[in-house]
Amino acid sequence: MENKDRKNYVLKGNVCYTPTRDKFCIVENGYVVCKEGRCAGVYETLPQEYESLPCMDYGDRLIFPGLVDLHVHAPQYAFRGIGMDLELIDWLNTHTFAEEQKYQSLDYAKNAYEIFCEDLVQSATTRACIFGTIHTEATLCLMELLEQSGMSAYVGKVNMDRNSPEDLCEADWKQAAEDTEKWILQCETLEHVKPILTPRFIPSCSDALMEALSKLQKQYHLPIQSHLSENLGEIQWVKELCPDTSCYGDAYQKYEMFGGECPTIMAHCVHSTEEEQRMMKEQGVFIAHCPESNTNLSSGIAPVRRYLEQGISVGLGSDVAAGTSLSMFRAMAMAIQCSKLRWRLTDQSLAPLTVSEAFYLATKGGGAFFGKAGSFEKGYEFDAVVLDDAEIRSPRRLTVKERIERLLYLAEDRHITAKYICGREIFSKVF
Ligand code: GUN
Ligand code: FE
Repeated sequence: MENKDRKNYVLKGNVCYTPTRDKFCIVENGYVVCKEGRCAGVYETLPQEYESLPCMDYGDRLIFPGLVDLHVHAPQYAFRGIGMDLELIDWLNTHTFAEEQKYQSLDYAKNAYEIFCEDLVQSATTRACIFGTIHTEATLCLMELLEQSGMSAYVGKVNMDRNSPEDLCEADWKQAAEDTEKWILQCETLEHVKPILTPRFIPSCSDALMEALSKLQKQYHLPIQSHLSENLGEIQWVKELCPDTSCYGDAYQKYEMFGGECPTIMAHCVHSTEEEQRMMKEQGVFIAHCPESNTNLSSGIAPVRRYLEQGISVGLGSDVAAGTSLSMFRAMAMAIQCSKLRWRLTDQSLAPLTVSEAFYLATKGGGAFFGKAGSFEKGYEFDAVVLDDAEIRSPRRLTVKERIERLLYLAEDRHITAKYICGREIFSKVF
């Protein structure tokens, strides 16, 4: 597009989306209309009122809503694929904290975050919820790079003041709260990248710090993201640290940072008790299901179908660097594959996830945290990715549905022809 801010146009191609998790809506050789950054509808024939809009004809390519990564650690991208032979707490102490300390240096952070942002932009992800580190300057640098790239994101300066190496602890809860408030005010000028409060997890946040963050949450009406019930040893540790709580989720709830008035994403929920599940459902907490991470750190397999059946909000997360890949295609494939192993090995009452369910989780499921995002229903923010699968050769003539299924397992960044976020063209390799 000549004018990158042009927000009224039409994309033509095979349009695919999942308004509900049980089936695909597919319009072959159809039109999806963007008006002022929002979706005006999907059509088999273009209504006359839109005929004057510029139309990008993507031919036989597939047009999907943008994919949403509900949980990723930007500073960990530097060691993705390394050190996958430990469980959570040992992995944090051996690999993760050592890397995150380096973001004290703005030079190191700038270099690392440029690589992360460039790769994220080339991926099919249009929106992400991102952890930084405790360092304000580095986190602001990450936010500015994302803003420049056109991505929509929530980014958190991480908070931690206990049970962590000295160089990765905030001085004390007071200093942490002060720095966090300063950071919140410093990112007010950003348009597409927003702050999200990020207590790392209960073991690394003191009661006083949680109390202070809860105050900031109420004052600035910010969402929060954290980790929950990922690993059995971690859950036991939280029990010891917080003997007066009824479950891990209750340790967040105690500070009113577990849904309700406080939009919340909790990563993992592999081992959530029934009580914790009930709280998440009642309070509208979003679960970021991270199947690759849960496999790599031998955490387990979350009962995603149970969460969906209960009406809990669920999306997918890459959780780099416990997950090795930023690809949300990879996350979809692994969500299905892990659900099959869980069904076979531990619980025949929960059927494996289907292709449309995985697609829903990666689009509308996670997109709901951002409001109306992740679908081509009328009024949704216009996030789209165009995929060219012609290079994935087959002697068969495939249906569009078969082509979607195949892409979950086979799509690579090089198959992405174009990407639009909220109507903004991020790139298009053909127009
Ligand atoms: N729990 C606390 N910190 C982390 C982290 O960085 N990654 C994962 N997977 N779990 C965590
Ligand atoms: Fe994580």
